[in-house]
Amino acid sequence: MIKLQHNLAKRSSDADPQGDLLHFLRDACADASVRFGCGSGHCGACTVLIDGQAQNACTTPVWSGDGRHIQTAQGLADDEIGRVVLAAFVDEQAAQCGYCISGILMRITGLLKHNPGATEAQIKDSLSRHLCRCGAHARILRAVLLAQKNIQHANTLP
Ligand code: FES
Ligand code: FES
Repeated sequence: MIKLQHNLAKRSSDADPQGDLLHFLRDACADASVRFGCGSGHCGACTVLIDGQAQNACTTPVWSGDGRHIQTAQGLADDEIGRVVLAAFVDEQAAQCGYCISGILMRITGLLKHNPGATEAQIKDSLSRHLCRCGAHARILRAVLLAQKNIQHANTLP
């Protein structure tokens, strides 16, 4: 029996522990925000946070999520940093088709949680793990920089 926390929900399932976390989240947890792109760890569309660390769900076995906290774009509005990142992507209209955006939101939320002062080079390095077929990279980068500015501003408030 697999037991884990999925965003704010406790889940338990008798799904195959050798299956991949991407399909577990989509099928057993009804979370379509976790996107299937390449299925082989190359496009970043399926990125989730596992105990705060960004990982590709398509190459992560279900058993390795046991007992851990999995965060996805579906629950981002409930996360203190994720909510700011989400708002910045909306403000900058960063998505075109939006298919790649769930994974990018999770990658950037993880980055800004651990390193709110990340340099532009570090942000670009994070984004380099994600394919965006629409070519929305410039808008995505602007959104990340806006989120970072808003997080830093919130941290300076009394
Ligand atoms: S679907 Fe997981 S990296 Fe592409
Ligand atoms: S916005 Fe369409 S793939 Fe990135």
